[in-house]
Amino acid sequence: MSFYSSVVSKVLFLFDPEKIHTFTIKWLSFLQKVPGVQAYMRWHFGIKPDSSLEREVFGIKFPHPVGLAAGLDKNAAAFEMLGAMGFAFVEVGTVTPRPQSGNPKPRLFRLKEDKAIINRMGFNNYGVEAMVKKLQKRHTKVIVGGNIGKNEVTPNENAVQDYVDCFNALYPYVDYFVINVSCPNQVNLRELQEKGPLMAIVQALVDAEIKLTGKKAKPILLKISPDLTNSQLDDIIDIVNETGIAGVVATNTTTTRDNLPSYSKEYIESIGKGGLSGAPETKRSTEVIRYVHEKSNGAFPIIGVGGIITPEDAYEKLQAGASLVQIYSGFIFEGPSLIKKICKYIVEKNK
Ligand SMILES: Cc1cc2nc3c(=O)[nH]c(=O)nc-3n(C[C@H](O)[C@H](O)[C@H](O)COP(=O)(O)O)c2cc1C
Repeated sequence: MSFYSSVVSKVLFLFDPEKIHTFTIKWLSFLQKVPGVQAYMRWHFGIKPDSSLEREVFGIKFPHPVGLAAGLDKNAAAFEMLGAMGFAFVEVGTVTPRPQSGNPKPRLFRLKEDKAIINRMGFNNYGVEAMVKKLQKRHTKVIVGGNIGKNEVTPNENAVQDYVDCFNALYPYVDYFVINVSCPNQVNLRELQEKGPLMAIVQALVDAEIKLTGKKAKPILLKISPDLTNSQLDDIIDIVNETGIAGVVATNTTTTRDNLPSYSKEYIESIGKGGLSGAPETKRSTEVIRYVHEKSNGAFPIIGVGGIITPEDAYEKLQAGASLVQIYSGFIFEGPSLIKKICKYIVEKNK
């Protein structure tokens, strides 16, 4: 048991989940500016370089395959500190063109007995301009992904412009992009996963890049829901192939409420709507990765995310066809040492 899971998490989990999240991000953001702290974190948590961990995916060289999933650092406030804690890449956002406060509180629920989280945050963020200001101060080489969305007040018919606005504003500052149309916490957002509207968004971003730079340079990925049917997943594969974007992030949170053995149905119902993440979605998320990888004949890279709580979970996703993995809930329950444990496990398996 790590110091985090035996002591730190026990203290943190005494408090309201959102309050402790906000406090932790503020604290990390403060610490990342204190001289020497990042260097200390890198020394303590950093991953020893190892050729069996390195990989080149969609044209970017990753020192190892473990990154932080979107939603934890929504405003790019602490991405360098998170990089110093061992992540090879940090996905910031989801960011929207204009600031928005998200859904009413409470909207974040920890189900620690089952290593799960339910959230209905609703893209609370300070807007893309504020994010740009943070990213302009970037000092370290941690790889940064920009996860982009649309404002709640923007009707789906006008969604394309929101995605293009975020894309244009972030373009100089991030290494890859993720289009988020799979979050269950914004009304009707997931309707944008249908082939027609999705194709329009993806094509608009491909065109925006050509307009900006004259070429296709930065990888664009699509983040998908674990609740899609096989036929919807087939559409996703077609869209990636037809538009030539870089790949897929699989998966976001699920609206299902399966695999929560420690809690009564009444208690889970009392929490209300939201996306479920963590251990309950490990299996489904891996199934989606395997399906997309096999059905597309491995035509494009997949970032595997969803319920990685142990090194074995991460390895399974890589075996199922993921080129990289991300963690969120696992990081909350197991702490930064999970990154090192996953990397160690991969090195052992590759021997
Ligand atoms: C509190 C919370 C907020 C999240 N916010 C976002 C978000 O803004 N954008 C996004 O693409 N995914 C978001 N996610 C989904 C995660 O990036 C990830 O896809 C999902 O949690 C599954 O991974 P996990 O089981 O390791 O948590 C959020 C997840 C949680 C728990």
